[in-house]
Amino acid sequence: MVILVDTGSMRRLAVVVVSSVVGLGLVVAPSPAGAGVKAGARAVGAGAGVKAGETGAGRAQAVRVPGVVPVPVSIRATRGAYAITSSTRIVAAPHDKAASYLAHLLRRSTGYALPIVGSGGGIVIDSAGGTGLPAEGYRLSVSGHGILIKADSGEGAFRGVQTLRQLLPAKAEKSTRQHGPWVVKGVQIEDYPRFSYRGAMLDVARHFFTVSQVERYIDLAAGYKVNYFHLHLGDDQGWRIQIKSWPRLAKIGGRTAVGGDRGGYFTQREYAEIVKYAQRRYVTVVPEIDTPGHTNAALAAYAKLNCDGKARKPYTGTNVGFSSLCTSKEITYRFLDDVIRELAAITPGPYLDLGGDEAQSTKQPDYVRFMSRVQKIVHKYGKSLMGWEEIAAARLDADDVPEHWNPVTGTQDGTQLARSAAKKGLKLVMAPADHAYLDMKYTKKTRLGQDWAAIVEVKRAYGWDPAKLITGVGEDDVRGVEAPIWTETMRTMNDLEYMAYPRLPAIAEIGWSPRASHSWASFRSRLAAQGPRWAARDVDFYRSPQVFQ
Ligand code: ACM
Repeated sequence: MVILVDTGSMRRLAVVVVSSVVGLGLVVAPSPAGAGVKAGARAVGAGAGVKAGETGAGRAQAVRVPGVVPVPVSIRATRGAYAITSSTRIVAAPHDKAASYLAHLLRRSTGYALPIVGSGGGIVIDSAGGTGLPAEGYRLSVSGHGILIKADSGEGAFRGVQTLRQLLPAKAEKSTRQHGPWVVKGVQIEDYPRFSYRGAMLDVARHFFTVSQVERYIDLAAGYKVNYFHLHLGDDQGWRIQIKSWPRLAKIGGRTAVGGDRGGYFTQREYAEIVKYAQRRYVTVVPEIDTPGHTNAALAAYAKLNCDGKARKPYTGTNVGFSSLCTSKEITYRFLDDVIRELAAITPGPYLDLGGDEAQSTKQPDYVRFMSRVQKIVHKYGKSLMGWEEIAAARLDADDVPEHWNPVTGTQDGTQLARSAAKKGLKLVMAPADHAYLDMKYTKKTRLGQDWAAIVEVKRAYGWDPAKLITGVGEDDVRGVEAPIWTETMRTMNDLEYMAYPRLPAIAEIGWSPRASHSWASFRSRLAAQGPRWAARDVDFYRSPQVFQ
């Protein structure tokens, strides 16, 4: 690993090679006189990572920066610091979403007014900065004079604000007024994502979660630069979205949940509220109605959707693979046309997800015909089809997105679909269950969750590369990553948080940070720095002994 260290006293640049990254700080003082750090120079793997003491090049000045997750493309600690005070202003264009988000966050904990103004100094957020960085990229610099976030889009500025947030004291995350000081140490960051899709999936079908719970889940994930929120809205145990042309779906199909727990559903207005909430965080909602299997709730709501015309009994168990829409009936396609039309109308994002996994009660030729047909309906309403990797058995368009989930690697059985999808030119989202599923137990003793794919401690969640997992699926075949959480065993917000934290940030970092920065030792110490932030927000996270000692 190469770390660039500018030895402040000698005013020249030293390159220090370190073999492991431990401790809590990375070093760097001002750049060499006149030259600045060369473009392309990268302090890879930095963040909370590196403790530099004396180096061969002279007296390195150790300047510590807090751990940032995901680790930025480059981060250099510099001299100086900026203190946010009662007279600090946020300088941004009117209605800048990144500025509003930051102001809202900091007004609560600092108690300062932090007005958003059009010009001057302070915390400057420039969303039209002409940085030339890739999509979502930003530059963040902190010096004694102020804080500057420059990006070429509101999205980039918002990602930069999430980084700035992690440079502040953890108490900045509190929702009530705290005592200062509010000092941000000098730093220069340049950052942009490795992959364009970094998702979190929440299953509200097995157990239902309210709008405010879903919003909290989105907000926490957005803090780690997650930019897609995949909402699993329909399964055997519950149908969770109002469809006006088929009202019994929600009214009857929405009543149930696993274990006889209380069900529920979102009205379209509530769903639109979630979409808007996500949009304010530059997060795109991907709604999923699983088909043709995982459909007992719909089959219980409407007898005519069943091949035998008889309504199914509501289901509150946790088996899979027993239900199927009747792929040979025309009503099935009229039904899906209505569902897709209504969902497309309230979903600004590019994807509608029709599941497609574990359709063990649908014959394979029927499955392929079904998926090819419903794919066209999704396209008719202006969306691309997303689904689990099984959908790759149908002919898909280049913009359609299969999601790899099977806990297999290399050329093992179960990798064929992902490999064939890549061969057809499709770009996959990678969510291997044995690394990325947040409902897998951390240890055998974890009270919640399942273990069918693996026991997934934090190190295992972090220990994979989406471009190396499956033979024949390389960097260019990958659209990104996703961390799904299935809720058979989860009933409360605390349950969700306990299983998602600290693993969700592991998947987020794999999706965002450069491949070359991947280091468990670095990640672990930066992740540990998140603990006080979660505590400040009352996040019920798992104190993994691998991370928190
Ligand atoms: C899945 O876990 N059945 C996608």
